[in-house]
Amino acid sequence: MTEDKSASWSAYYRKLRDRPPRRTLLAALDAFGATPLKALAVDLGCGDGRDVIEMLRRRWRVVAVDSEPEALRQLQARALPEGIELTPIVARFEEVPLPLGISLVNSSFAMPLCEPDAFRRLWSRIREALPAGGRFSGQWYGPRDSWLGRPGMTFVARDEALALLQGLTVEMFEEEEAGGVTPRGNAKHWHIFHIVARK
Ligand SMILES: C[S@@+](CC[C@H](N)C(=O)[O-])C[C@H]1O[C@@H](n2cnc3c(N)ncnc32)[C@H](O)[C@@H]1O
Repeated sequence: MTEDKSASWSAYYRKLRDRPPRRTLLAALDAFGATPLKALAVDLGCGDGRDVIEMLRRRWRVVAVDSEPEALRQLQARALPEGIELTPIVARFEEVPLPLGISLVNSSFAMPLCEPDAFRRLWSRIREALPAGGRFSGQWYGPRDSWLGRPGMTFVARDEALALLQGLTVEMFEEEEAGGVTPRGNAKHWHIFHIVARK
């Protein structure tokens, strides 16, 4: 990870501080109903904890993974609810073992930030690690996204995304395509799949 890249992520965390949790995460949490006893979630590419805070607030135990130490430093510096169980891990999510006993894997705007082979291996591991009734929530990028072709990223066509989800109960599959501006202020065409799926 270069210093430039780390500085860029730090600016991203500052810019998005205090934004509400992602609606994919909220949909997944709501779909569980009351928080299962001792429920454990993993957040892959958690950033400074936009979603982690919500899971902790709902009394989930959370393993928070990010490759940027600054992300986890900022997460731990936030006002965290009392009596929570948070395990921060600085690691690349392609390489980190998924914890035993997870009911939810969340990866908001993060899982496509790895090479296609690694993305597919990670997705297989996620599917294996989830128990029946467990859920995945997060975003994948489509091929009309203007970041297509960037090294170290994965883009999946709609059909491929649906094929990867086959065998799961898809509770949300929303395709978003729009011109916009990134949190860092650059023009961008977004092509995103917002996903919630239950095993
Ligand atoms: C776009 S941010 C999203 C942060 C947060 N999930 C959210 O929704 O606001 C992507 C995060 O993924 C992390 N990240 C990128 N590639 C990663 C990888 N291969 N392994 C672990 N974390 C990664 C970045 O450091 C960054 O914090």
